[in-house]
Amino acid sequence: MKIFNKNDKMVTLVRANYHLLPVISRFGIRLGFKDKTIENICEENKINTDFFLAIVNTFHNENYFPEEQFLQFSPLLLVQYLRKTHRYYIEYELPKMDNLLGQLKKSCSSGCKELEVIDAFYKRYKTELLNHINDEETRVFPYVLELVNNPRSVDPNFSILEYEKEHSNVEVQINDLKNLIIKYMDPVYDENICNEFLITLFRFEIDINDHARIEDTILVPLVVSIEDKYRG
Ligand SMILES: [Fe+2]
Ligand SMILES: [Fe+2]
Repeated sequence: MKIFNKNDKMVTLVRANYHLLPVISRFGIRLGFKDKTIENICEENKINTDFFLAIVNTFHNENYFPEEQFLQFSPLLLVQYLRKTHRYYIEYELPKMDNLLGQLKKSCSSGCKELEVIDAFYKRYKTELLNHINDEETRVFPYVLELVNNPRSVDPNFSILEYEKEHSNVEVQINDLKNLIIKYMDPVYDENICNEFLITLFRFEIDINDHARIEDTILVPLVVSIEDKYRG
């Protein structure tokens, strides 16, 4: 799979993988790329081009782990990016899914038991996801920022490995939700809305799994390397 470099045109990035659109937006880059390269556009927007490339390549290619390169970026850059992603989930993706599920429930003609089960399952998933995000925003990220800005002031007994909880639980839940709909939906609903909801879940799953991968394979090792430096 292609690895993008700074001389590629920004337009080729979107043509190759439109799932990258929200990733590009999180960097504050807007459409209207003309024939500019990735480097041109990053410079115009005062974005670190190498960091941008590392993130889009990680999203585009599951096997791409530029660990050495990532260990040289500031964790502040990474935290800033991860926070923007959380905002995107909370302010855009989750409300979109709430809305589609609401429409789907309204479209149900009779005996809507499956939809009630799906609704309960979705609500549980959403609560767990929000708790996880909240935990990162209030405990993990502040710890990382404090470690970078004021390493001597953090409790030497704490470690990112204790802070950052496992992602597997939330990952499994969204997969179960999709399977529940695909396998057990009774045909008492509007099929276009249901397909739209399912497609949104598929896309969200890709995005959130990549987000978790960046936290697990980049943020955590980066912070561990800082912890090791100060703790010998
Ligand atoms: Fe996160
Ligand atoms: Fe996470």
